[in-house]
Amino acid sequence: MPDTLTITDNRTGRSYELAIKDDTVRAADLRKVRVAAGDVGLMAYDPALVNTAACRSTITFIDGDKGILRYRGYPIEQLAEQSSFLETAWLVIDGELPTASELLAFTAAIHDNRVPPARIAGLFDGLADDPHPMGALIASFGALGTFYPESHNISDPAVRRRQVHRIIAQAPALAAYAARARKGQPLVPPREGLSFAGNFLYMLQATPGQTFTPNPVLERALDILFILHADHEQNCSTFAMRSVGSSNTDPYSSVAAAAAALYGPLHGGANEAVLRMLHGIGSLDKVPAFIKSVEAGDGRLMGFGHRIYKSYDPRARIIKRVADEVFEVTGKNPLLEIALELERIALQDEYFVSRKLYPNVDFYSGLIYEAMGFPTDMFTVLFAIPRTAGWLAQWEEMLRDPETKIVRPRQIYVGADKRDYIPVDGR
Ligand code: CMC
Repeated sequence: MPDTLTITDNRTGRSYELAIKDDTVRAADLRKVRVAAGDVGLMAYDPALVNTAACRSTITFIDGDKGILRYRGYPIEQLAEQSSFLETAWLVIDGELPTASELLAFTAAIHDNRVPPARIAGLFDGLADDPHPMGALIASFGALGTFYPESHNISDPAVRRRQVHRIIAQAPALAAYAARARKGQPLVPPREGLSFAGNFLYMLQATPGQTFTPNPVLERALDILFILHADHEQNCSTFAMRSVGSSNTDPYSSVAAAAAALYGPLHGGANEAVLRMLHGIGSLDKVPAFIKSVEAGDGRLMGFGHRIYKSYDPRARIIKRVADEVFEVTGKNPLLEIALELERIALQDEYFVSRKLYPNVDFYSGLIYEAMGFPTDMFTVLFAIPRTAGWLAQWEEMLRDPETKIVRPRQIYVGADKRDYIPVDGR
């Protein structure tokens, strides 16, 4: 059987044969389907790209029906159990697990690049009073690029690799600076001898002049959360990274764009929205009424549903386990009972079952973050820090792909036909 698709255009009676590769036809092949010789040809209409593959990728595999997530072939469960964030970041970017010496060199590169340029600190003084830390982080990613003009030379792999190190290494400091600056607290630069996650906790929570040792259980929990958020194939922010990067702009600008996409409540902002929702519900007895209001179309059950997962998000399963370990240290987050009751009811409720709406990564992560003492509006920042690895891996892959062109979708024009200008006093 040939790997082709035969389609007949009933407007003309003509038939066309399109090649099928990897269960996909090339949308550009549709262009040969024309009524008249001068036509642009048939287009595929896919407003949110729900059924359009925009690239070939070897980074992350998701089977949304079976709830499978793998980075470079490795199951997320094994990485969460046995890997560290930096090892996973290397894996995501490089394609293979690092050897001991590669991991040592990568850890050293991250260590050596982890302090942002001193003048970046002044950026936070120029923002509004009490700025949302995601707004501040987006601004600081863009500002960071101004210190590294070489980053515009995106055709040099060694230059690219230096920026990858800088962005991943400095993201925790930028995030911690953003959080401290809004409270008028002095910035705490990174310290020697701490892990990637440990240093972030240190920069965020330490008091200058006083000793601060991150709790090892919380440090490991944060590292696992970073692993779970390292990449997630072609989501909104990754597409923003690739789309902006396809114009050959520098990676700092592309990361700022990706972070801006992540900020939205339907994407990385959902973990923040979940906590606001749980606080809003307030007590167990209000859960059934809340579920009914969602079914009636009054808002969404935040942290539920996913464009790709039509079963339990495997990351949510891991986070639920990590939550138990965190709560043993911090004490149980009282909102957990509400979240568990929401999940219990939703998983047997016709509205959610028929639409295959299950908890996603954001449903339980906010509960952990809150128990660890992070303010609610830091949650998306905690998503952004590790996702820099995924964004940059996808950017690198895109630049190496010979099929890459500047992203430029088409449109179906449905506006006014040609009409003549009327001077203002004649309208
Ligand atoms: N609560 C209630 N109804 C929902 C929800 C929800 N959370 N999610 C989807 N639906 C309904 C939706 O109303 C629609 O119903 P109907 O067919 O009657 O119109 C149906 O389910 C399909 O929804 P959709 O909006 O077409 O699905 P989508 O694939 O476009 O949206 C989503 C995916 C994640 C944006 C959506 O499920 C959602 O808004 N969830 C809440 C926000 C959230 O938790 N986002 C985090 C996503 S995971 C992490 C990340 O990517 O950043």
